[in-house]
Amino acid sequence: MTLDLFEPPAREALSEAAWLLRGFALPHVDALLAAIADVARAAPFRQMQTPGGFTMSVALTNCGALGWTTDRRGYRYASADPQTGQPWPPMPAVFTRLARDAAKAAGFPGFAPDACLVNRYAPGARLSLHQDRDERDYGAPIVSVSLGMDATFLWGGHARGDRALRVPLVHGDVVVWGGADRLRYHGVLPLKDRPHALLGAQRLNLTLRKAG
Ligand code: SIN
Ligand code: FE2
Repeated sequence: MTLDLFEPPAREALSEAAWLLRGFALPHVDALLAAIADVARAAPFRQMQTPGGFTMSVALTNCGALGWTTDRRGYRYASADPQTGQPWPPMPAVFTRLARDAAKAAGFPGFAPDACLVNRYAPGARLSLHQDRDERDYGAPIVSVSLGMDATFLWGGHARGDRALRVPLVHGDVVVWGGADRLRYHGVLPLKDRPHALLGAQRLNLTLRKAG
């Protein structure tokens, strides 16, 4: 009997052009966590305001040439951290490589992200259904890396009210979507309070994009 029989498939289709790559980031966890700590030292996690005046339950920071921000004036990408006026920290090489390799494994060769949103979820934090549509063109995929606590990812349709698939994501999983699925609604259900062995009571998510 070989262990291989019990290994999950290399990629699971969530829809036509969306793939779940189970454990794809696991070989890189130490390097990813060290890089996230560097980013957060230069550009600390913070909870931003939505245009509607709510404070996001998720705390975020960014790295790369462009960073995603929100305030009362709207959502946008900016080259500087609004909190410090400094450029966002550079994209760590391990992020760029992992994003390129994951995109390729999902059928999107040549992905070169210029923006990485780093989300930090505490128990109870959630992300309501939304589209990633602040990027300049939708030709490039989105690569999303999960670290730490388990989460339930909502994979919806092209209208907000479409039925959403509930996808359990664990430490090391990577989701890639693009092409016909690039503008699908997605979100994250409120996180349960089940601390992770390595990361404790938090979930970190990297969302790598070609924004500019
Ligand atoms: C996002 O849609 O920006 C993040 C999704 C996630 O945290 O898994
Ligand atoms: Fe998103």
